[in-house]
Amino acid sequence: MKSNQIRKLYLDYFKSNNHNIVTSSPIVVKDDPTLMFVNAGMNQFKNIFLGDLKPKYLRVANSQKCLRVSGKHNDLEEVGHDTYHHTMFEMLGSWSFGDYFKEEAIRLAWIFLTEICKLEKERLYVTVFEGSNKDNLLKDNDSFDIWKKYLPDSRIINGNKKDNFWEMGDTGPCGPCSEIHYDNRKSNLRDQTNAIELINKDHPDVIEIWNLVFIQYNRFSDGRLEPLPEKHVDTGMGLERLAMIMQGKESSYETDIFEPIISNLEKTSGINYGNNQEYDISLRVIADHIRAIVFCIADGQLPSNVKAGYVIRRILRRAVRYGYTFLDIKTPFLYNLVDIVIDQFKDHFKELDSQRGLVKNVIKDEEETFFKTLDQGIKRINELISVSKKEFSGEDVFELYDTFGFPVDLTELILRENDLSFDMDEFKKAMHRQKKRSKNQNKLDLGDWIILIDDANEDFAGYNIFEKQVLITRYREVNTKGKTQYQLVFNSTPFYAEGGGQVGDVGEICNKSEQITIKNTKKENNLILHYVDSLPKDTKIEFLAKIDIENRMKCSRNHTATHLLQQSLMSILGEHIQQKGSLVCADYLRFDFTHFSKISEEDLRLIEIDVNNKLLSNIQLQEHLDLPVGEAKNLGAIMLFGEKYDDTVRMIQFGESKELCGGTHVNQTGEIGLFK
Ligand code: SER
Repeated sequence: MKSNQIRKLYLDYFKSNNHNIVTSSPIVVKDDPTLMFVNAGMNQFKNIFLGDLKPKYLRVANSQKCLRVSGKHNDLEEVGHDTYHHTMFEMLGSWSFGDYFKEEAIRLAWIFLTEICKLEKERLYVTVFEGSNKDNLLKDNDSFDIWKKYLPDSRIINGNKKDNFWEMGDTGPCGPCSEIHYDNRKSNLRDQTNAIELINKDHPDVIEIWNLVFIQYNRFSDGRLEPLPEKHVDTGMGLERLAMIMQGKESSYETDIFEPIISNLEKTSGINYGNNQEYDISLRVIADHIRAIVFCIADGQLPSNVKAGYVIRRILRRAVRYGYTFLDIKTPFLYNLVDIVIDQFKDHFKELDSQRGLVKNVIKDEEETFFKTLDQGIKRINELISVSKKEFSGEDVFELYDTFGFPVDLTELILRENDLSFDMDEFKKAMHRQKKRSKNQNKLDLGDWIILIDDANEDFAGYNIFEKQVLITRYREVNTKGKTQYQLVFNSTPFYAEGGGQVGDVGEICNKSEQITIKNTKKENNLILHYVDSLPKDTKIEFLAKIDIENRMKCSRNHTATHLLQQSLMSILGEHIQQKGSLVCADYLRFDFTHFSKISEEDLRLIEIDVNNKLLSNIQLQEHLDLPVGEAKNLGAIMLFGEKYDDTVRMIQFGESKELCGGTHVNQTGEIGLFK
């Protein structure tokens, strides 16, 4: 069965068991400071688990795009070197939000694997949580007893906290888990060694395929666990691994998911898969990485020098490097693989096809730049070689790495070819110093929430409400770069939180005894956080919350102007224009978009005139609230890729300009004055 059919089999099964099938959330996380990329299907439901959001459906399932390359779940170093880890993978997930629990979760999983997928029962093993003294948790006897109905005691194994207590990150929802493992060895090997001895031992053929997590606790930053108001189920299974088993392969890289990519690379490099360990690793690394890069760029994350963009750049460069160093490919080659990836996944992940041209162009550009970097680095090495003795200093190698972006394994290889070596210890020390520096710079210490009022709405009061009496419902301390700030949440707030490119409101809260400046407003998941430098003396009394109206008006002018600009760009430069980011603040606007040449002076002038004409026409704002997303699409509303929209949306219309948007706007375009 092809992987696309396996995914469908899974989704159909859960649908027939009364689960709502939801779409994957974008792979790049935008509003959670504890996470850069989605690392598990449950991320998009974090607030439901914590009791901060009411679920729309009690049972859901999907196939979620995940990327595990940073933070608590990081598989980057394993990828390619073994035969079953991936940076990006599809997690087939199913959830119960306070509905069924262990009994039904285990039954559903067992029936799917043994009756629907028809895996041999004798090759399945399960693990259950053995308990933890440190966390004061008992063994998960409930799961043990339920599993006994399906398989003999001898194939149910105790697992420790590392393997059988699942946590999303250092803090947040978590709970004991029960994993299902599969023995994928050939029968003669199965007879020789009992699979029990190989489980969770990094054996390539005895591997975990499905993790059933019983979310029951919230982990706080001091390490303490507190029970959640309700019990939930969160399961995840790697589609790649299931495909490997169902297609009778020994590695997920041999399935129909990766086979076409590897076979294209074989043609480009003239090297065949399966003959040489070093070549195989490189082919796997590239096949894995190109898929991850394509999905991330299609979700709107372009390679860059910071944060998520930097991670994508590093993955892309890692793929190029393996091709360059081990497969001897000396010109850009990754972008040629884009079509293969998109064709394979486009039916399920609809966002891919429409981004095809952009993805290809971006990857080609990145590759060309990196190949230039490699050339410069090689020149510099040759200079150093000509004056060097037997050994390079570690500092030189670090300079190559840090300044020229030249990978250390490549330097090592070139030096070896020239009978030279370098001082590895010195290099490692320089590297360590730099890591420490950047870690300190980026360190964000979040304190736990101090809850003052439970069960408050904590919502946005509305676009036309500029001041309001509020109560603080919760607050926490935040430390970054040696500076302490506090985040406050109100029962209902007039403050607009940063989003859709528009900066957050500033303003103040005050009462008879004090006045405190709100320096910024941001969103985290669904909470609206107000940033202050100091806490009020009395956090439990009412405050008048007032936004800085003048500042808000300026932002609104720039936000509406951004919409009008986008429409003018499309009519003057062409329909291919797509928004790739924006910044709307009080002083100016910035609009990032795709277009593959410099805009001429003449076009710039036309764009400026076109926007100004729309200001002169004084077009009236039409705000459509709670519009079904399908209807908005039919009306031709502009939507952003990599954004997850609810079933109903807000559409902002100024004449022909229609965009899904959560920002603030002027009432009529004449209020903007002039557009330059
Ligand atoms: N959250 C769990 C995992 O990632 C199950 O989906 O393994």
